[in-house]
Amino acid sequence: MKYEKMQKERIVVVSNRLPVSIRRKHKILKIQSSPGGVATAFQSFQKEGKVAFVGWPGFIPENQEEKRTIEEILIRDHNSYPVFLSSKEIDKYYFGFSNRAIWPLFHYFTSMSEFDLSEWKTYQEVNEKFFQKLSEVIQPHDIIWIHDYHLMLLPGLVRQHDPESTVGFFLHIPFPSSEIFRVLPWRKEVLKGLLGADLIGFHTYEYARHFMSSVLRLLGYEHEFGSVTIDQRTVRVGNFPMGIDVNRVEKLLAKKSVMMNTAELSVNIQTSRYKIFLSVDRLDYTKGIPERLKAFELFLEQNPEQHGHVVMIMICVPSRTMVKDYLLLRHEVERLVGRINGRFGLHGWIPVHYMYRSFPFEKLLPYYVLADVAVVTPIRDGMNLVAKEYVAAKKDETGVLILSEAAGAATELGEAILVNVNHTEELAKAFEIALEGDEAEQKKRMKSMRKRIHDYPLHYWTSNFIESLKSVKRLQDEKKRKKLDMAGEDKIFSAFKSAKNRLLLLDYDGTLVPFAQRPELAAPDDSLIALLKGLAGNTGNTLVIISGRDKETLQEWLNDVPCSLIAEHGAWIRKYPRKKWKMERPLSNEWKKELYPIFKQYEVTVPGSFLEEKDYGLAWHYRKANPELGQIRSRELFDYLNEFLANTDLQVMHGNKIIEVRFMAVNKGRALESFLMQREWPFILAVGDDWTDEDMFKVLPPSSFALKIGHGESLAPYYLDSVKSFRDFLEKLSS
Ligand code: UDP
Ligand code: G6P
Repeated sequence: MKYEKMQKERIVVVSNRLPVSIRRKHKILKIQSSPGGVATAFQSFQKEGKVAFVGWPGFIPENQEEKRTIEEILIRDHNSYPVFLSSKEIDKYYFGFSNRAIWPLFHYFTSMSEFDLSEWKTYQEVNEKFFQKLSEVIQPHDIIWIHDYHLMLLPGLVRQHDPESTVGFFLHIPFPSSEIFRVLPWRKEVLKGLLGADLIGFHTYEYARHFMSSVLRLLGYEHEFGSVTIDQRTVRVGNFPMGIDVNRVEKLLAKKSVMMNTAELSVNIQTSRYKIFLSVDRLDYTKGIPERLKAFELFLEQNPEQHGHVVMIMICVPSRTMVKDYLLLRHEVERLVGRINGRFGLHGWIPVHYMYRSFPFEKLLPYYVLADVAVVTPIRDGMNLVAKEYVAAKKDETGVLILSEAAGAATELGEAILVNVNHTEELAKAFEIALEGDEAEQKKRMKSMRKRIHDYPLHYWTSNFIESLKSVKRLQDEKKRKKLDMAGEDKIFSAFKSAKNRLLLLDYDGTLVPFAQRPELAAPDDSLIALLKGLAGNTGNTLVIISGRDKETLQEWLNDVPCSLIAEHGAWIRKYPRKKWKMERPLSNEWKKELYPIFKQYEVTVPGSFLEEKDYGLAWHYRKANPELGQIRSRELFDYLNEFLANTDLQVMHGNKIIEVRFMAVNKGRALESFLMQREWPFILAVGDDWTDEDMFKVLPPSSFALKIGHGESLAPYYLDSVKSFRDFLEKLSS
């Protein structure tokens, strides 16, 4: 089915659950909104009719007619397009692959992860099903924003069918270290699916880093400044910590019914008598509920004077009850609650008030307001909104937050009492500190946490993500525009033809020949020699090959070409028709003694890498090393050398799989000075592939043409994809 067309820019939000769900009560269908998290984030867009939702309504219709009715209502009243799932799909895709494989694995509960081929297949099928629905809904200019671990293949499916579409993906749970992620049997498919997006967002920098490292390790794509280039498309990876809707909380706090509920609750739980500890979570093994109970038990054991004065209120929301581990957890939690209450309870005092239920947010808020201490102790959590909501509810700036350092929220709420949840004694101590701490200090901390959550509210998260997504699209478009097309070629060719004296400045590796596993294997082929001879033989042309290679190699390979050679990025120049090499500046080699052992150590410890000694340079090549190890160690070496060489006249460069030290005064730009000053050049073409060539682009007069081979950032106004396309270009130019 194809739906009516929208004219305005729209955000199509795709998530496993729709913001509304359907239930049947006494044979009547009820629609329940669940305005938490993602749905709330789009409220302002929703008011303007600029958002549509695609997702599962949490309900299996009895027949086709009922399905149609539900669909009509959801679209008409809630801008929601339902994806109906069968009970088999729910079992295998939702309970199965999503919650028995991905959820535990991504939260580092590796031993709980179950990998079942048929569940994986259903996960693939359901992602396809979501894609089918999305393709019915989607219109040109829509922005697609896909959410969470249930739909990690969907970005790839969208990309396959529409390479131009705008797709964002946000993961609400942690992305684990690549050592954990690689355990997943279908890890490559998942990464490829995610990389279909233009922007991939995580709650913290740590998760983004883990993701990029998995992409490098498992797919071999390198990342630079938070971007990965895949088939010439830039995919940006970033951290976007999700905030909460502070305005909504403020409004609710001022609402009469909420104030009345708060007053009533205060009497019921006797806040005048007890200090209240509060915890609110789905009953999930990632939330550290048994750990919290055990620490509370220890606290009671160690602080008998607190008996009868403190109460722990625990709201545990039923969740994923069809998964065995959740059932076992419930038993464990209830056993511990029973044990503590049995062990310490007194006539008229129950230490742990346990509720296995959920509250609408309005009813939850009074608990936050009244709690003296919120205890948020996940073993691992993508973000944890409860921690932020508690802070938002504390208008009077009282209250203490105990927060696990393994929650994403801990990166933003550093003023909380941060704890390692596995350390029972430390957590029990945190309960004491929370009760006995200096009130003025506690207020100060609460105040600064409140400021932070007000500075980065939910709508900031939404607009920041959407703006970043649009900027990736702009970047991709800009890049496309820079690709040398027929019109660009014609411009260069006609300038070339009409000029009498032309200067051609060509880099060697990565420009005239592709990179080889070892530098000595990149010798020029016969057709390249013929091509260069043809170019250089044209009397109007002055050809300069400008390379980082040593002079012996260049001489051996290019001796027959009537051209000038620049070696070691400009340390040596052989100006045609002279056959002698000349050093541009007097250089000393004393420094090599100091640096040699450092380079040697990297050669020895990174298998496949090797050291190259040039006359005035040292280079460490890591093209053949394990890609991730090579990247990690090269960055480390680069940083180290940068520090080491500060205030010297040496410079460290990170080229294409190479770290090289050479004199600062020596670079391709400086090396060209004498050529550029030799005469007026009506035509200059400079071509190169890595950042050492940027030095050359920098010194070109404005009318010159500069061309980059490859896709990275460059000063050159044009680029070509590969050595092959550049060689084709040169053939045409010389013909
Ligand atoms: N929540 C609720 N009613 C409850 C308990 C929790 O509305 O009885 C909401 C809570 O306000 C929060 C969300 O559920 O917005 C839980 O989000 P969190 O990030 O803390 O954990 P998740 O359940 O997503 O793992
Ligand atoms: C986490 C996930 C959400 C999910 C929520 C509730 O926050 O990141 O995607 O909706 O838990 O879990 P449920 O399985 O009930 O949807």
